Amino acid sequence: MRLSPSLLSADFGRLAEEAEKVKGVAHFLHFDVMDGHFVPNLTFGPPVVNALKRYTNLPFDIHLMLERPAVYAPRFQVGPDDVITFHVEAEDPPQHTIEVIRGLGCRVGISLRPGTPLSAIKPYLPQVDWVLVMSVEPGFGGQEFLPGALDRIRNLKRLIGRRPVTIAVDGGIDPGNVRQVVEAGAEVIVAGSAVFGQPDPRAAAYRLLMAADGDR
Ligand code: DX5
Ligand code: ZN
Repeated sequence: MRLSPSLLSADFGRLAEEAEKVKGVAHFLHFDVMDGHFVPNLTFGPPVVNALKRYTNLPFDIHLMLERPAVYAPRFQVGPDDVITFHVEAEDPPQHTIEVIRGLGCRVGISLRPGTPLSAIKPYLPQVDWVLVMSVEPGFGGQEFLPGALDRIRNLKRLIGRRPVTIAVDGGIDPGNVRQVVEAGAEVIVAGSAVFGQPDPRAAAYRLLMAADGDR
């Protein structure tokens, strides 16, 4: 299991220092980019995300909750280890967005809201590197994990079969449920409140990794 702590729960006034806190424990940094249209919330955009590239070597996991992902994706400075994820429900046609992100030289992720059937992303599975399963309604941190996500992860794993597609899960994950999420098939865990919402994010990230592994 790899951990992608979400900066949504971090101190936005000290993002570089917050990122530093999970160095050596986290495998990615998760950025929730919101446009106030696709979701009823606003966060940060390319200037802020790109500025942080100078302060950390962790790969960036950029989650676009935008109606126009194909318009804004090219504004992120990314490399082969980074991933840009867009939502299948967005206004831009998924096929076009995939081609745009692919052209940036990073990995391509696709995501779906909890209520969107898996059949919506099925046609794109041969073209993406990563699927982000939402286990809360996108837009806000600190929500409760929707248990229906477990079955979705299992079904998605079956759909993916032997393709090299990573399953990431985002929303409401904490040390109490992370094991189940990993057992269902998640390979990357996104967690905001359970990491940056804790007094010691490094210790909290470590606790999540331990809990995912069982009680070793
Ligand atoms: C929700 C975001 C999540 C959020 C998760 O729209 O996509 O990445 O940061 O936060 P927690 O872990 O608090 O549910
Ligand atoms: Zn997210």
